[in-house]
Amino acid sequence: MEHVPTFGSIQEYMELDHARLDALLLNSIASNFDRTIYNEFRKGLLRHIAIEEKLLFPTAKSEAKTAKLVARLRLQHGALAALIVPAPNEKIANALKDMLALHNQLEEGIEGVYHTIEHLSDHPMTLLDSVIAYPNVPLSSAIDKLIDLAPVFRAMERAGFEPKKYFEL
Ligand SMILES: [Fe+2]
Ligand SMILES: [Fe+2]
Repeated sequence: MEHVPTFGSIQEYMELDHARLDALLLNSIASNFDRTIYNEFRKGLLRHIAIEEKLLFPTAKSEAKTAKLVARLRLQHGALAALIVPAPNEKIANALKDMLALHNQLEEGIEGVYHTIEHLSDHPMTLLDSVIAYPNVPLSSAIDKLIDLAPVFRAMERAGFEPKKYFEL
């Protein structure tokens, strides 16, 4: 019989997904950016971001305190999504690793946005079911065609990240 994993909370599911994506990114670096592994990472990250933006963050909108944090997380999503458009290399991967570490910290744990959202939701278990059932997001066909990184750097700056830490500008 097929083993279907069960999850006790949205927080648990999303934190495990962070760990899965971190591992995929490390594997793709180790494989010198094997196309299949990196695309698995990209697809997973886009689905993860879509779950947050479409299902989870709307629940937090009513809370003034959380709304500010959510606005910051959305800007960071913009930067992360921009950075997975070009063909990967060591510099891009290092920036992604750092940005994901900073970003995930704001979402995880008792102080994080998942915990807050779970407690604001009227039906957290129904919300968890929707999260688990969320479909894959198709990868853009424009992927890898991007040569000019200037828009990517601007998205990073808007989100409070420093492109010059990772790239020669
Ligand atoms: Fe996020
Ligand atoms: Fe996340």
